[in-house]
Formats: sequence, C-alpha cells, structure tokens
Amino acid sequence: MQATIDGIRMHWREAGHGPRVVVFVHAFPLDGLMWEDQLRRLPRRWRLLAPDLRGFGMTRAGDSQEPLTMERFADDLALWLEHLGTDRVTLCGLSMGGYVAFAFWRRYRERVSALVLCDTRAGADSEEGREARRTLAARVRAEGAQVAAEALIPRLLAQGTRRGRPELEQRLRAMIESQPAESIARAAEGMALREDSTPLLREIDVPVLVVVGGEDAIATVEEASRMRDAIPDARLVEIAGAAHLPNLEQPAAFDTALVHFLEAIE
Ligand code: MLT
Repeated sequence: MQATIDGIRMHWREAGHGPRVVVFVHAFPLDGLMWEDQLRRLPRRWRLLAPDLRGFGMTRAGDSQEPLTMERFADDLALWLEHLGTDRVTLCGLSMGGYVAFAFWRRYRERVSALVLCDTRAGADSEEGREARRTLAARVRAEGAQVAAEALIPRLLAQGTRRGRPELEQRLRAMIESQPAESIARAAEGMALREDSTPLLREIDVPVLVVVGGEDAIATVEEASRMRDAIPDARLVEIAGAAHLPNLEQPAAFDTALVHFLEAIE
C-alpha cells in the first residue's frame, strides 16, 4: 500500500481488520518487511500496519540531506495515521522503532492507546556511542550499505540463530543491503541526536509491554527491566533464544507475548 504524505511516497504493509490498530515500527537499518511473520500469523481481528520509515524500504527519503531524526519519523507517522483516518493506535517499536515510539509519545500521546517497546532503550547515546554512529555513517557513505550489514549482523542475531537459521541471516543481510546508503547514514546521525526519554517513562499512562531477547547485547535485559520498573503499568517478557530481533528469531514466542498483551488490554 502507498500514499503521498507530506510530499513523499510512503509505503506500508497491512493485514487484518478491526477497531484496534497496531502499528509496527521497524529497527535500523531495516524496513517494514521485518514484521512479515507477525502480519502473516497474528489474528485478523486487529488491523496490523507495518510502515517503511522515511528513506527505508519503498518509502522515499525526500530531498533533504539532514539527519533523519526520531521526531521526523514520528511526524511522518502522525500524518500517515491521519491520512488513514485512525483514532488511537497501539504502537509497537523495535529498537530504533522504540526510539520513534518515544518521540511519538512525546508529541502525540493522545493518539496512543498502548505501547510495545521491544529491544529498545530509553536513554540517549553516550559521546562514545555518537562517535561510533558518525563513523558508521561516514563508512556507509563511502563504501555502501554492506558495511552496515557486516558491522551489525553479529549483534542483531543470537549465536544459536546464526548457527541454526542461516536463511534468516541471509534475509537480514539482503534487507540491510537493499537500503539506500544515504538513508542508513542519515538515520545513524538522527539516532545520535535523540533525546533522553528516561524522564518520560514515569509519565506513560497507557499499558506497556516491554519485550527483550534474552541474549540482546544492544538493549539488554537489565535495561528492559529498568524500563518496566519505571513505567507505571508495564510488564516484561524475555524471549529465550533471541538477541536483538526476537520477532524474527523466535516469532512464536514473540507473537504469543503480543497476543496475550493485546487480549489483556482489550
Ligand atoms: C536498531 O536495531 O534499531 C539499532 O540497533 C538501534 C541502535 O543502533 O541504537
């Protein structure tokens, strides 16, 4: 599906129907395709939407060379949801998708009925983290998207996933290498600029599910536990046998956690 939103062509995948709308926001540097298992397997009584964020997948980046900030992505989502005529949505963001969910909450909280925060972090980057993003952006601009695939894949998937499901690693590599190098660089710069969302956590007054892969080294179980403790109405599910991408690595366990949460808040 696609529509022109704020002058750019925005693309999304969609499944199911129903008053509850769940918006799946993808990780860096992936696109809405990372949610295809969920769109195929989750109950059809919910409307499931998986957009490609600006610059990724089949959504165009626009002409600017500015960093792709989390606020920019959140504004795009808000305009797109207006275009779709949705009211309040459950926002499910993984990693960078979670940073976008925090930015969306900061700006449009009245439009959020629940949050699912997967393998993400509330804090901003350290200076060292920012420097690493600037280095990645420069290398990707100079050498292409495969640099990002090489750098990131060992941290995205658990050892067991890499050993047991080489086809998933190939899918992931293909997804990363299909993204425009400039979008990867601009989003890396945008993540480096993101605000600290930690003070926001205690203000979140909708039900929250925090999901984390038990072997995630990027957004750890400890960080997920701290988020759960800080958010008034939050529960935590740890997915065994997964690192940073539990919805792809352990889709059955991920889907079960999501379905239980959505049913509990219905
Ligand atoms: C992601 O999966 O979106 C990235 O790991 C986020 C990050 O680099 O902080």
